[in-house]
Formats: sequence, C-alpha cells, structure tokens
Amino acid sequence: MTKKIIVMFSGTGTNLKAICEYAKINSSYEVIATITNKADAGGIKIAENFNIPSHIVEHKNFSSREDFDSELVKIIKEYKPDLVVLAGFMRILTPLFTQNVKAVNIHPSLLPLFAGANAIKESFESKMKLGGITIHFVDDGVDSGNIIAQVAVEKLPNDTLQSYEQRIHEAEWELYPKTIDKILIGDI
Ligand code: GRF
Repeated sequence: MTKKIIVMFSGTGTNLKAICEYAKINSSYEVIATITNKADAGGIKIAENFNIPSHIVEHKNFSSREDFDSELVKIIKEYKPDLVVLAGFMRILTPLFTQNVKAVNIHPSLLPLFAGANAIKESFESKMKLGGITIHFVDDGVDSGNIIAQVAVEKLPNDTLQSYEQRIHEAEWELYPKTIDKILIGDI
C-alpha cells in the first residue's frame, strides 16, 4: 500500500521538488500535504504545481514554541501520515512535536560536524577536504537525532562557495527521496 508523507519547509523547496518528482515515478509513497512557517516560501508554488495542499502556519503568530508546535501536530494528526519529512524547515521543535510525530530531517554537512544554520559555509571554510550531507531522525535538539544516512561531497581545488553549495544540494536531491523510500518500506 502507498505510504503517506507530509513535507515541511521554510524556503525554496528544492528538496520538496526532488521528493515529489521521485514519488511520482517510482516510490512507495505520496506527498499528501505540506506545511510551511513562511507565507512567502518558494516551496508553496512547487506544492501547488504537484497539486499538493499547503498549510501556512506562521510561527510569528504564536506566543510560544509549544503553541506553534501543537498547531503543527494538530494538522499532522488529521492526515495520519506514515512519516513527516523536514526539508529546510528552519524552526527548532519542542518535545511536544518530537514525542508525537515521527520525523526525519536533512542537513547539509556530515553531522555531528557543523550543526546549525550555517553548515555549508562553515564546512566550506573549514580545513576539511570533504563535506557532505546527513539524514537523521528529528529530536528536540539542533540536528542531533540518530543518523540514518550520509554521503560525502568532495571539495574541489577550484570550488567557490557557490559551486560547492550546488554539489551539496545535488547530493541532497539524490539521497533524500531514496532514503525516505527505504525508511517507509522498512529497509532502515
Ligand atoms: C537544504 O540544504 C537542507 O539541507 C537544509 O535546508 C536546505 C533546504 O533547501 N536543511 P530547499 O528549501 O529544499 O531548497
């Protein structure tokens, strides 16, 4: 039976797009809804193009993280998804969310290195010859949940931050949809 996922994002939504494209062609899951905390997020248009409903829940309209999270949980529970997928969702979630929702996240570094919001720049500016990406379960810390999958991305001699960032994103678009598939068919 086809599994159901909800994707949450705050920005451009290129990972959302990769996941929706993969789901259309060859996967065990469908994207049944999206949630964003930004009314101007590019991902809203992408969801629309795939005929997927988007819920805009702006964190600035809530007086506490818990109130915001309980609204997210309420929406999610109504859909009864098999998995919630964070794809550039830039809010820290409280136990109110993490204890009620099974969720995964993608992060543009080889965790536990370079957790937090500036991972690509920090990893590019570090002495390391390699960067990479990590998919992990979501807990109430910052990029701290159990690791599910990782891929290394080599730094090339002539890389600029932009060219390195582009290859990091390409690795994300490749790995995330497939890893979600594996989780849902029980391979992970
Ligand atoms: C990705 O680099 C992801 O790793 C990070 O946020 C970015 C989201 O990009 N958590 P997009 O909105 O999917 O284009």
